[in-house]
Amino acid sequence: MRDAKGTVIVTGGAGFIGSHTVVELSRAGYRPVIVDNFSNSERFIAERIERILEGPVKLHEVDCNDGAAFGAVLSSEANVCGVIHFAAFKSVNESLREPFKYYQNNIGSLATVLAAIREAKIAHFVFSSSCTVYGEPDSLPVTEDFPQKPAESPYGRTKQIGEALIEDAVRSGMSLKVATLRYFNPIGAHPSGLIGELPEGVPDNLVPYITQTAAGIREKLTVYGDDYDTVDGSCVRDYIHVVDLARAHVKALDYLLAAPEGTFNEPFNLGTGRGVSVLQAIAAFEAANGTKLNFVIGPRREGDVVEIYANADKAERELKWTAELDTETAMRDAWNWQKTL
Ligand code: WQD
Repeated sequence: MRDAKGTVIVTGGAGFIGSHTVVELSRAGYRPVIVDNFSNSERFIAERIERILEGPVKLHEVDCNDGAAFGAVLSSEANVCGVIHFAAFKSVNESLREPFKYYQNNIGSLATVLAAIREAKIAHFVFSSSCTVYGEPDSLPVTEDFPQKPAESPYGRTKQIGEALIEDAVRSGMSLKVATLRYFNPIGAHPSGLIGELPEGVPDNLVPYITQTAAGIREKLTVYGDDYDTVDGSCVRDYIHVVDLARAHVKALDYLLAAPEGTFNEPFNLGTGRGVSVLQAIAAFEAANGTKLNFVIGPRREGDVVEIYANADKAERELKWTAELDTETAMRDAWNWQKTL
């Protein structure tokens, strides 16, 4: 049967945001096709996605740096209406130790994918970007026209360069409509408990560290500083449920497919619009799960932005999307997922 809305190539589709987006694309009537080389994801996630969807999902084990192989995927799939590009390394800490790996993979794969898209004459592209492109904002909340400050890490810089690369692709006369999605802090997991975040080694990010502490894998959580000029002294972020984030990608694709002829790249902040401090996030986890978390206050972490949260009005206005799931729901889903690991 011809798919109602068409085939969508999802690079990095076995990853944290990618897997949740594959589920939401299918539920919305698209036919998602996963492209992943499992360099930073697990094969079993593909089977879990099929369990959630109760049906098969096509997968190509391909490295997005391999232009010939990725081009072959595009020409082998029928009725491709767009590409969503998640495939990238995303650890701030690791990027400080391994900058070359980050530039090679994150920039190389984006350039390769865009070249293949031009060859295949695919006109709709959704790019996974990050609020790290803003650095430490001068005021809050952040809107899409805020200046991009010097990134705090090679990871953040690869997202800035990625956005510039897309601008140059559009300027080159390529027929391309792009939605550049700037994620704030994705947290949580699928309510089924079948897919979620799989941090490598000791988690850098707050919520996986919280759930591993609650699970007894980590002895205690260290709060990196409580002497900042914020509501309670700890850093403030905009924590968005990964399912809300996934749904925004479907809305972004709908938006691109409905857009009038022409070439453009539109950025969108994807956040709840609410700032939540580290201590408030811990309290939300404890309230959601009826537990006490073992944490201590420690020194500040180098490179941390003090406070950032989104103005997501543009996504609401143009993508007809808003975040609907609250922090406690995300903390409940994150804990539910951790207990399955
Ligand atoms: C959040 C807050 C820490 C761990 C990163 C990326 C960003 C995006 C989300 C991809 C900070 C504090 C953390 C801990 C703590 N990823 N913390 N103890 O740094 O805001 O953003 O992840 O797009 O690009 O940069 O997320 O979860 O690491 O930290 O106190 O053990 O939690 O200091 O204030 P961050 P994070």
